[in-house]
Amino acid sequence: MNAINLESSGKLLVKGPQIAKGSVKISGSKNAVLPIMAATLLTKEKVILRNVPELADVQTMTEILEYSGKTINRNDEILIIEENKELVGEIPYEPVRKMRASFNVYGPLTLRTKETKVALPGGCSLGVRPVNYHLEGLKKMGIESTTEHGYVMGKIIDSKNEINISLPFPSVGATEHLISSAVLLEGKTIKISNCAMEPEITDLIDFLSKMGAQIEGKNTSIITIHGVKELHGLEYSVSPDRIEAGTYIIMGAIIGDNLKIERVCIDDLRILLNMLEEIGIEFEISEKENYVKISKVDFKNLKNLNIDTAPYPGFPTDLQPQISVLASLIPGKSTISENIFSSRFNHIDELNRMGAKIRLEDNTAIIDGVDYLSGAPIQASDLRAAAALLIAALSAEGESIISNIDHIFRGYEKLKEKLDKIGIKIEYN
Ligand code: EPU
Repeated sequence: MNAINLESSGKLLVKGPQIAKGSVKISGSKNAVLPIMAATLLTKEKVILRNVPELADVQTMTEILEYSGKTINRNDEILIIEENKELVGEIPYEPVRKMRASFNVYGPLTLRTKETKVALPGGCSLGVRPVNYHLEGLKKMGIESTTEHGYVMGKIIDSKNEINISLPFPSVGATEHLISSAVLLEGKTIKISNCAMEPEITDLIDFLSKMGAQIEGKNTSIITIHGVKELHGLEYSVSPDRIEAGTYIIMGAIIGDNLKIERVCIDDLRILLNMLEEIGIEFEISEKENYVKISKVDFKNLKNLNIDTAPYPGFPTDLQPQISVLASLIPGKSTISENIFSSRFNHIDELNRMGAKIRLEDNTAIIDGVDYLSGAPIQASDLRAAAALLIAALSAEGESIISNIDHIFRGYEKLKEKLDKIGIKIEYN
């Protein structure tokens, strides 16, 4: 179960229905640690990262940094990143193809090595995911890119002292990539508007500021960076993963009996918690002790939900598949519109195979609630779809076999151990 191998299409055998009881602790955030790891390329000095989850994607970013010449050692949840030799500006396709966040190394690496050749990330089951916002912004900042044979070649060109970039859409990755690539542009002021405001961006800004970067506008959509000559090493602890927390909260609502989710940053999950409260789900929260405890839910008494995914502070697309499972079990008609990714509905056909009644109209799933789901052979298409199908299978009557389950190890640390602790049994092979 612990071996993370995205090349295999591991299967999960799940016998339902099961009940989740007790408490589960949330790990460090995947989507925060990945851009932070990429940004360690900005300093020669040693960086110590704490609360780093052991996940396939962290392993992929480790490989990429090692290709560039960094030395990385892991000791439990601590990652030590050092630079003992000159950096190389070439990152091959093999690690980059596994994960789109790999591309966040491109700007920082080009600044350090002056010329780079970095593989372009490939296709993705969530729909088309270009990197045009990244490349257009970087060009204004003095990193010119040419694309050939699936690689981006980067070199440094002249740029203005006052640089204004307006993102066409508040892309999380582009916001992170551009901020990280701006901080070392000594003597220049870079203003980026229409930035994404996800908590993972706040984490990155905190990390960069602690390294010595000059960044204004944290938690707003306009970020201004005053480039500095160099950044220094540091120790930094990554925030808890709001999507892992949200997934366990939704699991608690569907199959829990007073499930307690610990190490949750409540502020990051307001939109989910407000929505659960509005439809009639009861829970206890402690902002001081950072936990959420979900009471046992009687689906018959819940109101329907109507959700639109949106950039933060809107409803996160990364919880949309999991919430589809909850909506499937609420009597009456619910709707979920996906506004971030063009095809993040691959889980719908699988849920329908389990007895859900969901139809798609453009980017909206129209869901007629059913009394129960029934176990079936199903297939996971991506990380969050895998999490949704696992919850569905745990709630369903009978046996499910989820194939391609290995996607789940990209985002859920110590899954088997955590589930074991809350009384959930799954078999992996
Ligand atoms: N987009 C462009 N051009 C670009 C960049 C983005 O058209 O240059 C479009 C995308 O195609 C998409 C939209 O903008 O339709 C939003 O994409 P965004 O760039 O915000 O997403 P991302 O940075 O690639 C991160 C998370 C995703 C999460 C999204 C949205 C990481 C490593 N990944 O992706 O997380 O869904 O933001 O919140 O932070 C996951 O964890 O399962 C996951 C997919």
